[in-house]
Parts: sequence; C-alpha cells; structure tokens
Amino acid sequence: MKIQWDIQTSLGEFVKDNVLCAETFEELSIDFCCGGESTLEKACQEKGLEPKQVLGRLMQLQSLVKDSDVDLEALKPGELTLHIESKHHEYLKKVFPRISDLLEKVLAAHGERHPELKSLQKVYTHLREDLEPHLMKEERVLFPLIRNLESQGLGENMAATEGPVRVMLMEHDRAGELLKQIRELTIDFKVPEDGCQSFEVLYEELRLLELDTHLHIHKENNILFKKLMSPN
Ligand SMILES: [Fe+2]
Ligand SMILES: [Fe+2]
Repeated sequence: MKIQWDIQTSLGEFVKDNVLCAETFEELSIDFCCGGESTLEKACQEKGLEPKQVLGRLMQLQSLVKDSDVDLEALKPGELTLHIESKHHEYLKKVFPRISDLLEKVLAAHGERHPELKSLQKVYTHLREDLEPHLMKEERVLFPLIRNLESQGLGENMAATEGPVRVMLMEHDRAGELLKQIRELTIDFKVPEDGCQSFEVLYEELRLLELDTHLHIHKENNILFKKLMSPN
C-alpha cells in the first residue's frame, strides 16, 4: 500500500494502488473509472453499502499478491500510451469479433425464449461501434501527439492535448453507460438455467470485457490524463 487508505480515499486511488480493488468494485457495481474521483464513502452511500465494511474487504486484498501489472505511476505519459495500447487496445481488437460471433450464435439458439438477447446484441454492437473508432483516434491522434511532445522535451507543456482529451473523456462516459446497460440486461452476467455452454462463455466474455474496459478507462482518465494535466 503506497498511501494510507480510508473511506475518504478516492476510488481511482484504490485501483491505482492495488489493481485487485477493481474486481471488488465490479462486484459491488461501484464505478471506479468514470466515477474514479468519488470517495469510497460517497460511492458506498449511493449504493446503500456500509463504507467501513467495504474498506475492510479492500484491506484484505493487501495480503494478496498484486498482479504483474507494471508500476503505472512510475511511467512517463508516452510509455503509458504504449502500455495501454499493447494491453487494452490489442485485447479489444481480439475480443470484439469473438463476442459478436458468440452473440449471433446464442441469439439464434435462445432468442425466442430470451428476448433480452436481442437488446443485448444491440447495446453490445453500439459499444463496439463506438469503441473501435475511439481506439483509432487514440492510436492515430492523441497518443502519437503525447509521444511527440514528450520526445521534443515538451513534457511539461501538454496543453495541445487538452481538446482531444476532452473528447476521449466524453466517449469514455458513453462507453461506461453502455457497459452498465449490458450488466443490467444480463442481470449481473447470470446465465439462465436453460442456458447452454455458449451462453456461459458469452456471459463470461462480457464480464471480462467490462472489467478490462473499466481498467482501461481508469488508466486513461485517472492516470494518463491526470499526468498530462499536472506533469511533475
Ligand atoms: Fe484507450
Ligand atoms: Fe480511451
């Protein structure tokens, strides 16, 4: 633990400090990426949870080994963009077509008894169609701009990134909303009793997609963009 945790600690700080907190937040439907500024106390109150109890659960995670994630705080913005691209962008590019195919298959087999699958496909397709150009904008515009400024020694003058960052923030909020709708439509990724194995794989893939995208947005909003705004 790099900082002293208490209920006034922000959600983003918890995840920055120990990435395992992300899973606990997911489980409790606490939004730590777009809502990363919120304190633990405020977020718990909104969900009707006892902040001290949740803090206790998070504290227990400290005894578990951290994942092999690099120390992101120590990275320069340019290095962070490379980490995000190789870890999260590549993941999305691989998983998007896989989930689309699975959805098609599950919808064909179970669509009649489970009309929610049609809505799920609609929301998922919307998310994919939003995020694919979003990734491209980061890879072709914002991230190279950050790396260029950095290589010119202009690391402390990142004002040129302000416009694109603002757009990315808005798009992250939108993705967060669509992920929330997916969680609602799948009732927290619970496979119905008559669901086949593809149904199970689909819901597991969607659960992992949510977790990875939340971490991805967290790293951009709460670490990368913060560094651009207040370089040290
Ligand atoms: Fe990204
Ligand atoms: Fe992004």
